[in-house]
Amino acid sequence: VAVPQATSGQFGERIDTGAALRAFSVALQHPELDVVAVQAHLNGELKTVGELHEFLDAVLGFLDALYASLALEIEILDIGGNLACPTVVQRGPVFQRLAVATGIDVPLEPVPDALTLDSYVREVTHRVDAHFAPLHRRRPRVLLEPGRAMTATTQLLLGRVPQVREPDAQGVATAVLDLGLNVAEALRNERHQIYAVRERQGGSRQRYRLYGPTCNLGDLICPGVELETLAVGDCLAVMDSGAYCVPYSTCFSFPRPAVVSVRDSVATVLRRGETFEDLVSLDAMPGPRLVRERPKETSANSPAL
Ligand SMILES: Cc1ncc(COP(=O)(O)O)c(C=O)c1O
Repeated sequence: VAVPQATSGQFGERIDTGAALRAFSVALQHPELDVVAVQAHLNGELKTVGELHEFLDAVLGFLDALYASLALEIEILDIGGNLACPTVVQRGPVFQRLAVATGIDVPLEPVPDALTLDSYVREVTHRVDAHFAPLHRRRPRVLLEPGRAMTATTQLLLGRVPQVREPDAQGVATAVLDLGLNVAEALRNERHQIYAVRERQGGSRQRYRLYGPTCNLGDLICPGVELETLAVGDCLAVMDSGAYCVPYSTCFSFPRPAVVSVRDSVATVLRRGETFEDLVSLDAMPGPRLVRERPKETSANSPAL
């Protein structure tokens, strides 16, 4: 089901229009269906305790409506994913345009009642317990599906700087990286922390727009970040790339890079870098043959090719 604050109708029938209740009513008329669960994936972001409670209010209110209207007691309540990573900011269309125009990105500020994995689980458990205790109805088992929150901070993306250009009239310089939206799709509208891997001591600082290397006008991975003055060959780290960068990566323009784990200073290749042979390996055409072979001439009358 989709709660009223969901901006997309992609995940389930809406609660506020009555469509969700109608869907359950129809499902209950089919004896071959065992209607036991409600799943609600916000398809947005739950960053604060307040946002989580607003979401849970809508979902638990729907469980009450199912009971009141259809006498249905749900056994499993699945509240999907959407727990935010505290060091990633979603820009939204207006802030995206502002950041691109000014070279100043959305601020990354501490959120006073920010959720952590622990507080998220605690809040959900308490809220569901508190809801069902006075009702004397069966409390459903609660399933959670946090993806980003569990994996974002476990990965970072490394890229080198092959080109640096002078600052423009606004004082924002340009750096082209060898990592672009082809391997960092999430950065299209998310602000991630970006650091130089090796800072020079006492170096001057400069504001940069960071572009990727693909032949795509929109390959902007950061509209504005202040870094120590960059030089060709410098290496930058894009933080919190877990969850969505690797699965969304494509081989558009460049083969995909390797995925490496580092533990106790020991690096292990988890996925080797892609090669040209990998890129063509699924193609049905025989081999990368650049020169067409001439068919053998069988008689003096064979037409010339
Ligand atoms: C149904 C469902 N559950 C959970 C998730 C994980 O979401 P998140 O990474 O926002 O926690 C997704 C992500 O697309 C999803 O589609």
